[in-house]
Amino acid sequence: MKPSTLLIQQLEQREAVIGIVGLGYVGLPLMLRFSEVGYRVLGFDIDPLKVDALNAGRTYIEHISAEAIGKARSQGFSATADFSRAGECDALILCVPTPLNKHREPDLSYVVATTDAIVPTLRAGQLVSLESTTWPGTTEEVLRPRLESSGLRVGEELFLVFSPEREDPGNPTFSTRSIPKVLGGVTPICTRVGEALYGQVIDQVVTLSSTRAAEMTKLLENIHRAVNIGLVNELKIVCERMDIDIHEVIRAAATKPFGFTPYYPGPGLGGHCIPIDPFYLTWKAREYGLNTRFIELAGEVNANMPAWVVGRVADALNARGKAVNGSRILVLGIAYKKNVDDRRESPSMELMALLREKGAEISYSDPHVPHFLPMRKYSFNLESVPLTPATLQDTDCVLLATDHDRFDYALIKAHAPLIVDTRGRYQEPAPQIVRA
Ligand SMILES: NC(=O)c1ccc[n+]([C@@H]2O[C@H](COP(=O)([O-])OP(=O)(O)OC[C@H]3O[C@@H](n4cnc5c(N)ncnc54)[C@H](O)[C@@H]3O)[C@@H](O)[C@H]2O)c1
Repeated sequence: MKPSTLLIQQLEQREAVIGIVGLGYVGLPLMLRFSEVGYRVLGFDIDPLKVDALNAGRTYIEHISAEAIGKARSQGFSATADFSRAGECDALILCVPTPLNKHREPDLSYVVATTDAIVPTLRAGQLVSLESTTWPGTTEEVLRPRLESSGLRVGEELFLVFSPEREDPGNPTFSTRSIPKVLGGVTPICTRVGEALYGQVIDQVVTLSSTRAAEMTKLLENIHRAVNIGLVNELKIVCERMDIDIHEVIRAAATKPFGFTPYYPGPGLGGHCIPIDPFYLTWKAREYGLNTRFIELAGEVNANMPAWVVGRVADALNARGKAVNGSRILVLGIAYKKNVDDRRESPSMELMALLREKGAEISYSDPHVPHFLPMRKYSFNLESVPLTPATLQDTDCVLLATDHDRFDYALIKAHAPLIVDTRGRYQEPAPQIVRA
């Protein structure tokens, strides 16, 4: 039997062993889904703390329960840092980080390290799927030659696809299963094998003609968001100068039943994807002598938002006879978006750093982030402050950066002397509320 026929059969009969490499925000939900339908899943991660936690049935992501991990464990899931075991897997799904380096260029070191780690274990009849967001051409130009250095040919003995993750952490409406999955294979047979893998766990698999088209699809989705958020952030500044409430305008425009999609302004752009991924295309487009002006412009507008918000805080304090220097400023919400615990690229970090630089005394409150664990760029020796009438009254300014549903907005309004609202959470004007 041909390796592809055998592998498709093993996948369809759920006898295949699934390897998930990178057990983070993307890898963990995927592991749970494959376990749930009856596959044996082996998880790989270089972080021994994560491996130990999972093997002990513990979780490290707020919206994934320990109960779900425990259930997967009882269905045969285990985690390891030993990459020599990759040979046990029939399908290997790579979900490792793809950040930017300090020159804002793609950093594929995690993808390359992972690929190099599995090459010695490759055997005929395996599928490799890259899920990490990246520039068009990565799967063909970076992964394929490395995998083929094993002597196995892609499309004959080995199968290679790109299938980007689509996730909306904290959104209960969609699950891994119900979010359609885009997939492109290096060859048509690679695509068929990829469909056999994902078709077992995802309701709709959308196949494309190539890995490059699939890579570009993911970038289009994220660029679309970055550019539209940049647009509303720019309009927010214009509206502010004209004394118009941008949120009122967006609510009204959103009543149009066609041709308009609402995007909401904020204190900047956060998360692991939207502020970063568009620049993967910017970098690759340069190879073709092209500039991606929309991406650069949106990046510039969004990156300047924290400084604009700090200006609004300074003006609001000034109007009350106070300076930023020496003021007690309580930042509400340090996760990058509401109802999640993820602080990656969160604009709150930049807001806190800018305000501290100007001499403010910073504290924060975030029910999803009880301790401020140091990050690559930011470090604050702080714990989340409980929101009480006394803690609110004891501030000069409350800066609403991330509007978690768990905040008591009536309590905040009743006791904070000044609220700078970057999310349009307070719709009714009040003397102590300033829009930013
Ligand atoms: N978080 C999201 O909502 C989201 C959505 C869509 C796409 N993505 C993309 O998915 C990819 C992964 O993102 P994430 O949010 O899951 O990141 P993450 O940081 O939560 O998880 C990545 C995991 O990979 C591990 N890791 C790093 N190097 C490794 C290696 N060489 N071998 C094995 N494991 C390794 C890390 O320890 C970590 O546990 C990125 O390309 C990201 O852009 C993320």
